[in-house]
Amino acid sequence: MTFLYPGEFIADYKSCQNQEDLKRMIESIHQELLPNLQLESIEPHNPVVVHHVPEPWQLLGIGNYAGVFYHSEYEDLVVKIYAPGRLGWSEELEVYRRLGLHSEFSTCFYAENNFLVLKRLYGVTLYDCMNQGLKIPPRVIEDIDRALEYARSRGLYPHDIHGRNVMMSEGKGLVVDISDFLREEPCLAWDDLKKAYYYLYLPFFSWHRLQLPYFVLDLVRTNYRFFRRFLDTRSRR
Ligand SMILES: Nc1ncnc2c1ncn2[C@@H]1O[C@H](COP(=O)(O)OP(=O)(O)OP(=O)(O)O)[C@@H](O)[C@H]1O
Ligand SMILES: [Mg+2]
Repeated sequence: MTFLYPGEFIADYKSCQNQEDLKRMIESIHQELLPNLQLESIEPHNPVVVHHVPEPWQLLGIGNYAGVFYHSEYEDLVVKIYAPGRLGWSEELEVYRRLGLHSEFSTCFYAENNFLVLKRLYGVTLYDCMNQGLKIPPRVIEDIDRALEYARSRGLYPHDIHGRNVMMSEGKGLVVDISDFLREEPCLAWDDLKKAYYYLYLPFFSWHRLQLPYFVLDLVRTNYRFFRRFLDTRSRR
C-alpha cells in the first residue's frame, strides 16, 4: 500500500484512527466497490453513467471522466474512480502532490490505477446551487480566485473551472476538481463564469430564488461549449 504523504501528515489530518479508516476503506474499494460497480463513459463530453453502486457505497457526484463515491462508515473520505477508457488519474495525483495542503482544495491520501481516495469537501457545486436556488455571495467567487492564484504559484495551470468543479460551503468557495491543472494551454472557462456571475447573475438573478432545472443548466453547458469554440476560432483568424 502506498501512502502519498508521510505518516505524520495523515496523522495531522485526523487521528491515527483515520489511517485505519483509510486502510479499511481501501480494502472495501477492492473487495466490495470495484468488483460490483458498473460505471461507463458513453460520450466524452457528457458525464459518465453509473448503472450500479454496491451497498453500502453511495454515489456523490459525476463528471465527464469519473464517478465519486463514499462509504457510510468513512464519510469524510471519498473515492474518485475513473471510468474505463478515461485517462488522467496519474496527472490528477501529480496535481495533488504539487498543491499540498490547502483549505480550499481537497487532499489526496491514496491512489492506485484508476482511482484516488480524497478528502471529502462538504459543499454544493455552483451548478447545483443554481438548481436549488441557493444565493451565491461574491465571497465564494473571491475565495475561488485566490485558490486558483495559489495553484498558479505551485506551478499549475487552472483549467476547466466550470460550475460543477467549484463549490459553495457555508458561504465560502472551494475548488473540487483540479484534474486538468497540468494542461498548459489557456482555458477561459473560469473567466467566462466570472463574467456571467458579475454581469448577469449578481444584478439580475441573485435577487430571486431562481431554481433552474437541470435540463436548462445542461443546455447552457452545451451551448457554452459551442459558443466558446466559435469565439476561439474567430480570434485565431
Ligand atoms: N473531494 C470531493 N468531495 C466531495 N464531492 C466531490 C469531491 N470530488 C468530486 N466530488 C463530486 O463529484 C463530482 C465529479 O467529480 P470531478 O469533477 O472530480 O470529476 P471529473 O470527471 O474529473 O469532472 P470533469 O468533467 O469536470 O473533468 C463533482 O462535481 C462533485 O460534485
Ligand atoms: Mg469535474
